[in-house]
Amino acid sequence: MNDERPVLVTGGAGYIGSVLVPMLLEQGRRVRVLDRFLHGGQGLEALRGERDLEVLTRDLRDPRVHDEAIEGVDTVIHLAAIVGDKACAQNEEVAVQTNWTSTVAFARRAAAAGVRRFVFASTCSVYGEGRDEILTEESPVRPLSLYAETRRHAEEGLLELIGVKDFEPVLLRFGTVYGLSPRMRFDLVVNLLTLHAVQRGKVSIFGGKQWRPFVHVRDIARALEMALTEPAPDGSPILNVGDNMENYQLLDLREELEARVPGVRIEVVPEASDPRTYRVSFDRIERLWGFRASKRVGDGIEEIARALRAGSIPDPENRRYVNA
Ligand SMILES: NC(=O)c1ccc[n+]([C@@H]2O[C@H](COP(=O)([O-])OP(=O)(O)OC[C@H]3O[C@@H](n4cnc5c(N)ncnc54)[C@H](O)[C@@H]3O)[C@@H](O)[C@H]2O)c1
Repeated sequence: MNDERPVLVTGGAGYIGSVLVPMLLEQGRRVRVLDRFLHGGQGLEALRGERDLEVLTRDLRDPRVHDEAIEGVDTVIHLAAIVGDKACAQNEEVAVQTNWTSTVAFARRAAAAGVRRFVFASTCSVYGEGRDEILTEESPVRPLSLYAETRRHAEEGLLELIGVKDFEPVLLRFGTVYGLSPRMRFDLVVNLLTLHAVQRGKVSIFGGKQWRPFVHVRDIARALEMALTEPAPDGSPILNVGDNMENYQLLDLREELEARVPGVRIEVVPEASDPRTYRVSFDRIERLWGFRASKRVGDGIEEIARALRAGSIPDPENRRYVNA
């Protein structure tokens, strides 16, 4: 085991965490994961026996676990959450506790204990209804779901902790993530459409005019890794994570799918309107950290389609791949 301080990754067994954790280990870091394994242990299965990985099966809502989690740690990547509008709507109380109140309580404890860098996984869905603007970190937020609201409240709570000892929060607002992960999710739009295209030969796109910024899960992991070492942004510590090239209207996914899943039938279902539309600027993270996406949506469709055809994702329509 190396004698560096471990990086604490909460929610490290999840969709993003299970891509990030091996990446950190490969770079020679020690990693401590805290997770309540809501979606099983598949995400970390391949890392069993890793010397530099410590796993705490704990629920972050229990304040008694906070000290144990941050013992000897000066950097935290906080991914643990009830993720998605549906999952939050299913159990509002647990969502509010996990995503907001316990997140802030945990960060407060971490700040008081001298944790410096605290990287928080927020979401571009806090922008809600973007209309035709291109949204920057300074744009007004209009969260349209409990999930987005809880993420915004957590952001506010973390911002209030600036000034407590050396606490340096970095708030990353991710676009909608896609791509293969050891803890696969098929409730994310690119992943789901690819699943339907390959398994059923038919895809329905609802509405289609909505804008979304998409970002590959490995690029998210790269941004999280950069957030451990890059200087905190001057002024506001909020950064959108994605790439200007990767804002799509959902209808644009039609061409991407047709090109990679030959013969797929795509039906566009007119929908009253999905108010959640946001087109996002990623200028700031590019200017400050030189961050650009290394993968495009088409690459993600390609890799997922290949994995499905190869049978490497067992029983892909199983409920375990969706959060609600
Ligand atoms: N996937 C996306 O498109 C996306 C987009 C924007 C932001 N995010 C943010 O990224 C983070 C990770 O998302 P994901 O897609 O990996 O989700 P996920 O649901 O796959 O993983 C979340 C993990 O958190 C754990 N967890 C939940 N409650 C916990 C608790 N009380 N204590 C300990 N562990 C707990 C779960 O067991 C799970 O392993 C979340 O904070 C989410 O809000 C994700």
